[in-house]
Parts: sequence; C-alpha cells; structure tokens
Amino acid sequence: MAVICLAASPDLNSSTDEHSILAIKSHISTSYPNNILATNWSQGTSFCTWIGVTCSRRRPRVTALNLFNMSLEGTIAKEIGNLSFLTYLNIRNNSFNGVIPDEIGNLRRLRVLEISYNQLSGEIPLSFELLTNLEFLSIQYNHLTGAIPWSIFNISSLQTIAFTGNQLYGALPNFMCYYLSKLEGLYLSYNQLSGNIPTNLSACSRLEIISLSYNNFIGAIPMQMENLSQLQKLYLGANKITGKFLDIIWK
Ligand SMILES: *[C@@H]1O[C@H](CO)[C@@H](O)[C@H](O)[C@H]1NC(C)=O
Ligand SMILES: *[C@@H]1O[C@H](CO)[C@@H](O)[C@H](O)[C@H]1NC(C)=O
Ligand SMILES: *[C@@H]1O[C@H](CO)[C@@H](O)[C@H](O)[C@H]1NC(C)=O
Ligand SMILES: *[C@@H]1O[C@H](CO)[C@@H](O)[C@H](O)[C@H]1NC(C)=O
Ligand SMILES: *[C@@H]1O[C@H](CO)[C@@H](O)[C@H](O)[C@H]1NC(C)=O
Ligand SMILES: *[C@@H]1O[C@H](CO)[C@@H](O)[C@H](O)[C@H]1NC(C)=O
Ligand SMILES: *[C@@H]1O[C@H](CO)[C@@H](O)[C@H](O)[C@H]1NC(C)=O
Repeated sequence: MAVICLAASPDLNSSTDEHSILAIKSHISTSYPNNILATNWSQGTSFCTWIGVTCSRRRPRVTALNLFNMSLEGTIAKEIGNLSFLTYLNIRNNSFNGVIPDEIGNLRRLRVLEISYNQLSGEIPLSFELLTNLEFLSIQYNHLTGAIPWSIFNISSLQTIAFTGNQLYGALPNFMCYYLSKLEGLYLSYNQLSGNIPTNLSACSRLEIISLSYNNFIGAIPMQMENLSQLQKLYLGANKITGKFLDIIWK
C-alpha cells in the first residue's frame, strides 16, 4: 500500500480561506473573455459574498465552491486543499487543465467532488482515499489516465462513482463492493478498463445503474448480478463479453 504524505496544515482559519480563494483565482486565466471572477472576486468585499463561494453561517469559512458552467480556463491551485471546511466542490464544464492536485485529499469534509467536463490530465490522485465522507465523485470527460486507485473502493460513503470518458485502464478488484454498500450509480464507460466484471459487484446491493460499455472487459456476466434487485440500467456494449445474457437481469 502506498503511504500518502501530505503536509500537515496547522492553524487553518478564515484568512487561510481567503488566501486559498485568491490562489485559486490567480490560477485562472484573466485573458479569457468570460472570466466573471476577474471582476466579481475583488478584494475589498468579503470573499463570502463572491460568486460561487458559500460560507458557513456561523463563521467566514468556505463550505461550498460552485464554479460550474463559468467558461473558466486555468489550473486547479493546490491551495484548494487548505479550504478545510469545504463539503461541496463543483467545477463542472469549464476548461481546467493540468493535474488534479493531491492536496484535494486534505478536504476531509468533502461530500461532493464534481470536476467533470474539463481537460484535466494525469492520474487520479491516490490521496482521494482520504476523502472518507465522499458521497458523489465525478471526474467524467477529462483526459485522465492510469489505473483507478483501488483504495477509492474503500470509501464506504460513496453513492456515485462516475469516471466515464477518460483513458483509465486496468482491472477492477475482486473486493470491489466489499465496502460500497451505498453505491447507486457506477459509470465507467468509454475508458480502457479490462479484465472480468467482478462477481463482487452483486454486493453493491443498491446499484441502480451500471455503465461499463466501451471498454475491454472480457468474460461472462456474473450470475450473481441477478441479485441486484434495484438495478434499472445495465450498459455492457462494446466490450469482449461472452456467454449468454442473463434474462433474469432484465426482469
Ligand atoms: C458578485 O456576484 C454576487 C452574486 O452574483 C453578487 O451578489 C455580488 O454583488 C457581486 N460582487 C461584485 C463585487 O461584483
Ligand atoms: C457548458 O457551459 C457552457 C456555458 O455556460 C454551455 O453553453 C454548455 O452547453 C455547457 N455544456 C455542458 C456539457 O454542460
Ligand atoms: C450548464 O449548462 C448546460 C447547458 O446550457 C445546462 O443544461 C446545465 O443545466 C447547466 N448546469 C447547471 C448546473 O446549471
Ligand atoms: C496552503 O497550501 C499550500 C500548498 O498546499 C501550503 O504550502 C501552505 O502551507 C498552506 N497554508 C497554510 C496556512 O496551511
Ligand atoms: C481497504 O481497507 C481495508 C481495511 O481498512 C484495508 O485492509 C485495505 O488495505 C484497504 N484497501 C485498499 C486498496 O486501500
Ligand atoms: C464481496 O463483497 C461481499 C459483501 O461485502 C463480501 O462478503 C465478499 O467477501 C466480497 N468478495 C471478495 C472477493 O472480497
Ligand atoms: C442471490 O441471493 C440469495 C439470497 O442471499 C442467494 O441464496 C443466492 O445464491 C444468490 N444468487 C446468486 C446467483 O448469487
């Protein structure tokens, strides 16, 4: 198992939050035509009033950062990992590029991590395993590569895992659903994943949607999947899956 070393961050407070937000702003291109942050995120007003920033009602600490559909271009500043009260991070559908900073793993309160529809590259940080309150993880439609860190499947709070449309490869682990008793949606289509569909998938008993199409999966559909009583949609097309489809899955 890899050992994750992240700098300890003592004394994080609201001025750290302001510093973090300004660092995030400084990594976003100001020459981009629609950079609303260039004018809105101006010093002199409290950062809690800035567009996309939500603070705790009790104190000026950032609890949500909501920058979807803002046509922003730039990289994700590693200082984002200092927003220690953050529970919600959404930068969906912008033009963020570069890597996902390891420091995101410091955001222990995070419940929603939505970074889909950007141009992020590199690998999924191993530090994601530290996000032990995460319910929704979407990194769809980026340029991410490498294997899925199996430790992500240890995050028992996860309800949605959405990795569609990247260049992820490797197999899924046998123990995949050992801890994922709350998982409702598994979206892995349009990658280069391989190996068998784990029989353990049947242990994710709340699964409603499984999307594995357009990968390199081989072998048969595990019989045990007939026990997924909540299953509504199962996408398996464009793989190398053999054997007969279980009628019972469609009941
Ligand atoms: C920034 O946007 C927010 C939300 O739209 C608005 O309430 C605020 O007045 C704006 N601040 C500035 C300085 O433009
Ligand atoms: C992304 O945001 C832009 C600008 O708001 C919008 O025109 C476009 O339809 C959005 N695309 C998606 C996939 O949400
Ligand atoms: C982003 O833009 C798309 C296309 O205009 C729209 O369908 C979607 O609802 C927007 N996302 C949000 C969260 O508003
Ligand atoms: C904030 O994050 C940066 C980069 O991760 C780090 O170097 C810095 O020490 C942090 N600041 C505080 C006050 O913890
Ligand atoms: C998952 O958690 C268990 C129990 O804490 C641990 O033994 C195992 O090594 C973890 N697996 C991964 C891939 O991190
Ligand atoms: C699959 O998950 C179930 C339910 O948690 C568990 O009992 C079983 O041992 C798991 N299989 C493997 C190979 O880990
Ligand atoms: C489905 O679940 C039942 C009850 O837990 C079990 O007896 C049966 O063997 C399971 N079927 C498959 C194919 O795993």
